Amino acid sequence: MPSEVTEGLEETESLSYEELEEDGSVSPSDLSELLKEGTKESHDQAENTQFVKDFLKGKIKRELFKLGTVALFFTYSALEEEMERNKDHPAFMPLYFPLELHRKEALEKDLEYFYGEGWQGKIQCSEAAQRYVDRIHHIGQHEPELLVAHAYTRYMGDLSGGQVLKKVAQRALKLPSTGEGVQFYVFENISNPQQFKQFYRARLNALDLDKGTKERIVEEANKAFEFNMQVFDELDKIGALLTEEVQDGGLRLHDGQGDLRKCPYYAAKLAGSSEGTGCPYHLALALLKQPPVQLALAACLAVAAGVAAWYVM
Ligand code: HEM
Repeated sequence: MPSEVTEGLEETESLSYEELEEDGSVSPSDLSELLKEGTKESHDQAENTQFVKDFLKGKIKRELFKLGTVALFFTYSALEEEMERNKDHPAFMPLYFPLELHRKEALEKDLEYFYGEGWQGKIQCSEAAQRYVDRIHHIGQHEPELLVAHAYTRYMGDLSGGQVLKKVAQRALKLPSTGEGVQFYVFENISNPQQFKQFYRARLNALDLDKGTKERIVEEANKAFEFNMQVFDELDKIGALLTEEVQDGGLRLHDGQGDLRKCPYYAAKLAGSSEGTGCPYHLALALLKQPPVQLALAACLAVAAGVAAWYVM
């Protein structure tokens, strides 16, 4: 193992991240600084994608949030598979924190919550997510020294915005306050995200890397941002295609009393497809709201009343 990696580890290995003192000193050639500075523009762009802006405003539909969770599941499955493969590689080993960081299990719980039993058979990897997944596998298998770029882009981002995004999703989708559906945002084994990020940066800086490799890592991190933005854009396009009925959680057809999503017909239909409701009760309610149907009904009632009156007389 290169000596600098060993030395870097010696400084931080015996301490848990909670015990690590933040001295705040950084050098411009530190990988953590190069990454932060070198991805600033990409970060700005990611923050300004329509999907992310809408999400932050709470403008996220349940179906779209579910698809976002699916994309994350495939991404993290690939990332964590490659991190397992490379956990002893000197260019990755110091950043291997499965207990603290790994998200696949949390995403599995979220998907089970949203899609129910047998969720594995109800989801598929989208085109944009597949391109991201393919890149992660390529890096893990052929250029493992760049894997850290993908870990940095996702985990540091998740640790930075997790709590806010969790609350936004819970409020917008009326998810239970007990955390079902948003486990992805909960880092159970990290009590202080700010401190952990500082610890992670120290580990990044302790990697024994030449200037060229550091530059390639920054380049790869920018690619990782780009893959994320492609997933966001794809979700945005899907969101625009979703029928208004599904976008509104089907509430257009609802009579305003009670929660349509609790209707078993509706839940079954949504679980299987992105189409609208097929529930006869809600369909009847919707029909009754149509003026021509109301007119026809009134006419039928009038005729029936006339016939009844004639019969009685
Ligand atoms: C509107 C959306 C977003 C907001 C408001 C936001 C906000 C922030 C903030 C305030 C930090 C600084 C945290 C700190 O230094 O402690 C941060 C860091 C970070 N964010 Fe975001 N972020 C957003 C979207 C994203 C996205 C989409 C990604 C990538 C997929 C991302 C990746 C990162 C990374 C990697 C860092 C760590 C920077 C570093 O310290 O080196 N962020 N974000």
